Amino acid sequence: MEALQIIVSIFILALASSLTFASDPSPLQDFCVAINDPKGSVFVNGKFCKDAKLAKADDFYFSGLHIRKNTSNIFGSTVTPVNVAQMPGLHTLGISMVRIDYAPYGGLNPPHTHPRASEILVVLEGTLHVGFVTSNPDNRLISKVLYPGDVFVFPVGLIHFQYNIGNTYVVAFAGLSSENPRVITIANAVFGSNPSINADILAKAFNLDWKMVKNLQFEF
Ligand SMILES: *[C@@H]1O[C@H](CO)[C@@H](O)[C@H](O)[C@H]1NC(C)=O
Repeated sequence: MEALQIIVSIFILALASSLTFASDPSPLQDFCVAINDPKGSVFVNGKFCKDAKLAKADDFYFSGLHIRKNTSNIFGSTVTPVNVAQMPGLHTLGISMVRIDYAPYGGLNPPHTHPRASEILVVLEGTLHVGFVTSNPDNRLISKVLYPGDVFVFPVGLIHFQYNIGNTYVVAFAGLSSENPRVITIANAVFGSNPSINADILAKAFNLDWKMVKNLQFEF
């Protein structure tokens, strides 16, 4: 092989492995407590590591997931995240978690996707209808009603939702396979983008009246 081909292959291999692993699969340190570089010059996975000698227990600690959050919002659900933003010690570890509270009679975590994480959810209280949809061309809905102690997994990237079909609060916890899973909420991304997607495009894509698209864009 020519030298150039070898260099290109190595580059592609390095790129592929950096895309494959959201976490560092083979860390050469015990941890990397995230700090935002005051000089802001170079970012590794979006953060810098604090000097390990300065790491303290609070970098690996969060308190408050025992508290039920107010669900009086338009969807009737509230997510309390514990990811790298709340717990800097999670940086490079490829895990995080959330508590989700759902209001009785229809509290909804609306259809959304985590571009970088699978999610494993356990119900502690209440009755939760959950589901995800597979990719094209099947677009198969895989759904289930969960009761306390039931666990369900949402595979990485797939659109999913949770809906409280009971008359009591639902409390659920979920683990996510990224320290920074992010969320793309479908309605917000499609109808609430900033600036707006041209209404003609959405009317055609969703087979909707132009006026209906404008209304949806107003809503989101
Ligand atoms: C919950 O939030 C709503 C809307 O913001 C507010 O009116 C209500 O007082 C809050 N309830 C509690 C118990 O804090």
